[in-house]
Amino acid sequence: MLIHRNFSLKKYNTFGIDVNAAYFAEVFSEEDLYDFLQKAYEYPHPPMIIGGGSNMLFLGDYPGTILKISTKGISVVKEDDKSVWVKASGGEDWDGFVAHCVEQGWGGLENLSLIPGKVGTAPVQNIGAYGVEVKDALTQLEALNILDFTTRIFTNAECRFGYRESIFKHDLKGKFIIINVTFRLSKNPVISIDYGNIREELAQTGVKNPGIHEVREAVCNIRKRKLPEPSIIGNAGSFFKNPVLSPAEHTLLKIKFPGMVSFPQDDKFKIAAAWLIEQCGWKGKRIGDAGVHSTQPLVLVNHGNASGEEILALAERIKKDVKEKFSIELETEVNIIPGQS
Ligand code: EPU
Repeated sequence: MLIHRNFSLKKYNTFGIDVNAAYFAEVFSEEDLYDFLQKAYEYPHPPMIIGGGSNMLFLGDYPGTILKISTKGISVVKEDDKSVWVKASGGEDWDGFVAHCVEQGWGGLENLSLIPGKVGTAPVQNIGAYGVEVKDALTQLEALNILDFTTRIFTNAECRFGYRESIFKHDLKGKFIIINVTFRLSKNPVISIDYGNIREELAQTGVKNPGIHEVREAVCNIRKRKLPEPSIIGNAGSFFKNPVLSPAEHTLLKIKFPGMVSFPQDDKFKIAAAWLIEQCGWKGKRIGDAGVHSTQPLVLVNHGNASGEEILALAERIKKDVKEKFSIELETEVNIIPGQS
């Protein structure tokens, strides 16, 4: 097991920020992982775990250890007439896994097509798109305690999922490595196309009786049109969460801003942060190499050589303007990783 010193993270974070980690290792099997953890005396412990590096912004060189999980494996653990329970290793590429499920005819994850990242990091922020979240199909996950190396099964309820939230972002932050995740998928899928413009996309491409293959294709097409491809222009998807307001707060704002885009969310309202940012005039703007994407302003981009601090400074200016205009505090969705001080 190779533990690298002063290792460049540029290729390991989708923002493409050029910083170094004091120590870096990548594990390809569970044996590798245990082997690495046994050597904890050789590097600063505990390590910070990364999957695809698709939801993080590094502000400077990372003084500790970074461990990239690249374990592979997909297996069916159980099935009945209606469902199949599929277990995938934490290091499986998320979209590769979704593609595999769709090819097998297993429904449930097709709306989550083309989301960057890995299977093991998907539950941490409960990834979601087009009306579906990872929590809707996840039955359990297995995680390794980073301090005492014991494993634990977390049921769906124990993960305490919420909108872009889980226990792994809060109480258990940095304490567990997600080794594998089990999903219950349907052998007779019922598609979900009422969110966003999936239905419109299917109609435009002349699809009559869509199944999960067609839904995946439609979602991929929409995402490719709207969202920047990280390998071409650095980004970490939505930089902010969509703010959630109480009905009273929502009504007051709606009177002042009748055009405001919002969606009911349980007994509250989710406001389109993209709309708030666009109204503040930030859509498509850039300061140096730190920019706001031109078709989806919720996404901040690295036009080339932006530093983490420059992206963060842009985010702060956007937050300030949104606060001043709408009295709404935008919350960051991406993990901000402080550098060496
Ligand atoms: N909008 C604007 N101006 C724009 C773009 C959008 O006003 O330039 C408004 C539109 O009215 C649109 C609304 O914003 O109806 C919502 O936009 P969109 O459907 O693109 O979705 P979103 O709420 O901005 C969320 C997720 C995305 C996910 C999409 C699709 C969050 C933080 N983001 O974005 O997830 O792909 O829905 O379901 O919830 C991610 O988390 O990285 C991510 C990309």
